[in-house]
Amino acid sequence: VRVFVPRDTTALSLGADAVATGLEREAERRGLELTVVRNGSRGLAWLEPLVEVETPAGRVAYGPVTPADVPSLLDEGLLEGRDGHALAQGPTESIPYLARQQRLTFARIGVTDPLSVDDYKAHDGFRGLEAALALEPQDIVEEVKASGLRGRGGAAFPTGIKWQTVLDTPADQKYIVCNADEGDSGTFADRLIMECDPYVLIEGMAIAGLAVNATQGYIYLRSEYPLAKEILDDAIARAEAAGYLGDDLQGSGRAFHLEVRLGAGAYICGEETSLLESLEGKRGLVRFKPPLPAIEGLFGRPTVVNNVLSLAAVPFILAEGAQAYANHGMGRSRGTLALQLAGNVQRGGLVELAFGTTLRTLMEEFGGGTASGRPLRAVQVGGPLCAYLPENQWDMPLDYETFAEVGAGVGHGGVVMFDDSVDMAEQARFSMEFCKVESCGKCTPCRIGSTRGVEVIDRIRANENRDANLELLGELCETMEDGSLCAMGGMTPFPVQSALKYFPDDFQRAPEGDR
Ligand code: NAI
Ligand code: SF4
Repeated sequence: VRVFVPRDTTALSLGADAVATGLEREAERRGLELTVVRNGSRGLAWLEPLVEVETPAGRVAYGPVTPADVPSLLDEGLLEGRDGHALAQGPTESIPYLARQQRLTFARIGVTDPLSVDDYKAHDGFRGLEAALALEPQDIVEEVKASGLRGRGGAAFPTGIKWQTVLDTPADQKYIVCNADEGDSGTFADRLIMECDPYVLIEGMAIAGLAVNATQGYIYLRSEYPLAKEILDDAIARAEAAGYLGDDLQGSGRAFHLEVRLGAGAYICGEETSLLESLEGKRGLVRFKPPLPAIEGLFGRPTVVNNVLSLAAVPFILAEGAQAYANHGMGRSRGTLALQLAGNVQRGGLVELAFGTTLRTLMEEFGGGTASGRPLRAVQVGGPLCAYLPENQWDMPLDYETFAEVGAGVGHGGVVMFDDSVDMAEQARFSMEFCKVESCGKCTPCRIGSTRGVEVIDRIRANENRDANLELLGELCETMEDGSLCAMGGMTPFPVQSALKYFPDDFQRAPEGDR
């Protein structure tokens, strides 16, 4: 009997290795036939380690499993997929959290053995690349344009148009760079792809290479993801051995090489131009734009810089056709969005849905409300540079345009929830503090403004010259927004201003101790 125990960072940090060993030992002791397969996570973080058993009727899930649960699970029919145990979740695909999703990009996570090329192929893998090998570069670009895919890193720039710019720029060498410096608070979707289905990223990058005539790719990976590095390195070697990377992709005579490069822990290296500086071995300072990286990028050559999620969406588009992807979503936001539920949430995890769902659906129906059981009060969508949203904004459809209209962002899809014990003035201070710590220092509004921002918020919280300091904070935010070179300084005012606008009472409070 095949039993699946995930091997991604979340499951491992919750004791998955000990569960796997416990299952093997206990089965041996009882003389039971059991093979442990180390799959990736299904993205249902609150059920990790989620153990699945293969039955004739499909996989059946149990979670969250600890080593101490192993004997009772085997006593109560784990190997037959029986339902009686307190940890039994029934057929995996019927768990409502999973059943209600539209998994296109994440279709394989938790299903396959992340490192098996055969398993990947058995689940529709490399069909997109095979289709691309039969097309001219311009046709691949047209397909991506027609899908409506927009940059999933946060900026939502049309991926096909970016690729067109690179294709149209003549050069002796072009590059594909994957931004895997996933730095937003509460986000883990890139990591799930890399640890649980690395070939979908490798395939997406190879397709991008064919589309723009680039023969070299780099994955710029944050150093905080050592397991992703190990898995990617291994997967790249196996893809090369199977002819899906290297000098001659599937006998086509076309080449694409891929390497992983590690960052060194700077948030700003997720900004595409400082990422390129860092890849070139320099300090991660933001470059002026123009020139765009699509024209003068890595080592001055035309470069596609795309987020993990944008590149991982491409194999589906090439395999199933642009229309199959574009059929999902609303307005100009086509396809699916990988939302990541985090913060004070009962059921944290990955939720892939077509654009158009609401925050309330996500936080209540998927997330099950707060972990603390207290009422929800605020949510930050899109990372530390995006707005905090109050309850009257939880029912608008989640798409790029609707969110932009209210000064909010979808960003990279992180959804961080807060209950009614949150102090929004403290959160506003945190935004400025974060910018102060992570600023690359190149421009004054961000480098100096963030430090002054922390001081002004501290004065407001201490009730010192409230009105004058509130006015000063407003002006400072305006200066940072208009005068900063990149999104770091330019967007830090959004969470600050949203906290001031929607949660003004929190700025009225006397500091701790004086209350
Ligand atoms: P941007 O709007 O300047 O650029 C978007 C992308 O389109 C860039 O790759 C740019 O080079 C490209 N581009 C623009 N015009 C083009 C053209 N004519 N041809 C080809 N390419 C073109 O946005 P930026 O500064 O790259 O990103 C800001 C976003 O990053 C924010 O919206 C924020 O949500 C997000 N972000 C994401 C984080 C994460 O961890 N994923 C962290 C921090 C911010
Ligand atoms: Fe650097 Fe901040 Fe200026 Fe961006 S806004 S270039 S991070 S100093």
